[in-house]
Amino acid sequence: VQWKAEERAAIQAVFAKLDYESVGRETLTRLLVVYPWTRRYFGGFGNLFNSEAIMANPKVAAHGVVVLKGLEMALKNMDDIKNTYASLSELHSEKLQVDPGNFQLLGDCLTVVIATRMRSEFTPDIQAAWQKFLAVVVSALRKQYN
Ligand code: HEM
Repeated sequence: VQWKAEERAAIQAVFAKLDYESVGRETLTRLLVVYPWTRRYFGGFGNLFNSEAIMANPKVAAHGVVVLKGLEMALKNMDDIKNTYASLSELHSEKLQVDPGNFQLLGDCLTVVIATRMRSEFTPDIQAAWQKFLAVVVSALRKQYN
């Protein structure tokens, strides 16, 4: 994947505005509420019964930050996301057995949350660069699935 300077700047700008605590929690909450089958992977997280419970669940909040820190690994290694994510991909496929279609859904939830935070600053060009970044992340996470 080739990155233009403007794309790198756009992705950096999105990360610069990201409050990991609140964005991470809301992203994971939206995934679990909008796509309820994703709850099955988080059996150890306790009460995920409805949107209020999910939003208030401290394990969801903590894991939201973990996921965003995982994305930050991709940001810091933008020219080698595939290799950076090799072990994360293996974890999600072999150990967690997460259906890979769910990666896209999580990415979409994250994009929605970012849009609510950045509002008019989330311009079409910024969104385009951001979604290209997420597409590379999703494809790297799918790599170990065969
Ligand atoms: C764990 C990142 C998508 C389910 C993790 C961890 C990271 C991560 C960094 C911690 C790994 C470790 O402990 O070594 C990501 C990223 C994603 C993504 C960057 C997509 C952009 C998903 C999706 C699901 C999922 C879509 C399920 C629907 C899990 C589960 C764990 C986990 C169940 C273990 C949680 C625990 O018990 O602590 N993920 N993940 N992940 N992920 Fe993901």
